[in-house]
Amino acid sequence: MTSIGIHDLEMATGHHVVELADLAEFSGVAPGKYILGLGQSQMSVLSEDEDIVTMGAAAALPLLERNGTEGIRTLLFATESGVDQSKAAGVAALRLLGLPSNVRVVEMKQACYGGTAALQAAVGIVARSPEERVLVITSDNARYELDSPGEPTQGAGAVAMLISADPDVLEIEQANGISTTDVDDFWRPNDSTTAVVDGHLSVGAYLDALTGAWKDLEADGGPAIADIDRILYHQPYTKMAKKAQQRLREVTGEEISTALNPGDEPDGRDTGLTTGSIYNRRLGNSYTASIYSGLTSLLDHDDSLEGRRIGLFSYGSGCVSEFFTGVVQPGYLARRNPARAEKLLDQRVPVSIAEYRALHAAPHGTSDDQVTPKVTAGPFRFAGVTDQARQYEVR
Ligand code: CAA
Repeated sequence: MTSIGIHDLEMATGHHVVELADLAEFSGVAPGKYILGLGQSQMSVLSEDEDIVTMGAAAALPLLERNGTEGIRTLLFATESGVDQSKAAGVAALRLLGLPSNVRVVEMKQACYGGTAALQAAVGIVARSPEERVLVITSDNARYELDSPGEPTQGAGAVAMLISADPDVLEIEQANGISTTDVDDFWRPNDSTTAVVDGHLSVGAYLDALTGAWKDLEADGGPAIADIDRILYHQPYTKMAKKAQQRLREVTGEEISTALNPGDEPDGRDTGLTTGSIYNRRLGNSYTASIYSGLTSLLDHDDSLEGRRIGLFSYGSGCVSEFFTGVVQPGYLARRNPARAEKLLDQRVPVSIAEYRALHAAPHGTSDDQVTPKVTAGPFRFAGVTDQARQYEVR
């Protein structure tokens, strides 16, 4: 059977950055709570002329420049911070990217799991038509209410992936483990621009879903834990990945290391918990893009991945989760570019807490007519709203 998977991938984020030490000081919280307790040092913040469309298209642009557009007949845009109830964000991205009209576009939603749903659907499309390639864009702006416990776990990011036959980066294996439960741990009602969350319930729901998905992977004939070399988890904050690793250790009995922070003493087999969380620690939560930012981080910082199997646990509140695996292909070293991601993170423009709070209060996804200030340094911008329709332009 043809191997199918991620041929190439690229990350993007917002224009601004907030230091969590500053947020802690403003909130009267010990900085250690955010930096060690949650495992986050920064969070990306969008400028007023950025949104999930501009960020997702910014991730896809270099991917298409490197790989061309031949054979792309599907664009799947995964997000849980959608800007319209009807029109897929990917339709605007298609125009910005100059993709032709014979590309079907759809938006996929199931909280942070939507990106994995898009990836698996793309694998199915390529299995039927191996000459086709599918563009998957995961893009999210994670927003909680100011002064809420979720506030330090905000963030923004996008990862675009090209799914094809004979991929250069990661072959997706067939077995998968699913766990779906109807739970009110996190959601965003139609009339709210911020998520509603029961934080501690969500942590428990995530961990129970991990147990369920792992057991289902075993039942589906998936690999033994000993045959999985690296493990990535959805990272709403990086400490959550450590909690997940602890749970998987209990469930499987395998001594996999739960050391998260650089310099922590490993307490078992290193499965890449630290290397897979370098970018997320600085991006904050990027919802659908989070596990794929984790994948980018692992690929960029681990030189010995060729032929290694990676386990990926994708969780979307509400909740749907999946544990699946992939094998890293020899072409990954030529595809990765750690300097690119570092630059992306380093070039963000810092904002004070007062500026960040003003940005948080700016209109988000509302249909009131508006013209946005020109701020973003990205290739595309959200110009505002005219007659209730969102306007995008190439910068
Ligand atoms: N130094 C070091 N650590 C400290 C500290 C200090 N000074 N003060 C506190 N801590 C530690 C605590 O011990 C705790 O560690 P453990 O989790 O290991 O016990 C950690 O910091 C957090 O402290 P609290 O639990 O007291 O924090 P909180 O109640 O204020 O909020 C939260 C934590 C519930 C995760 C909150 O940030 C939140 O609601 N986040 C949004 C929801 C979320 O991310 N859920 C994750 C699962 S759902 C999901 O994954 C989907 C998604 O993307 C949203």
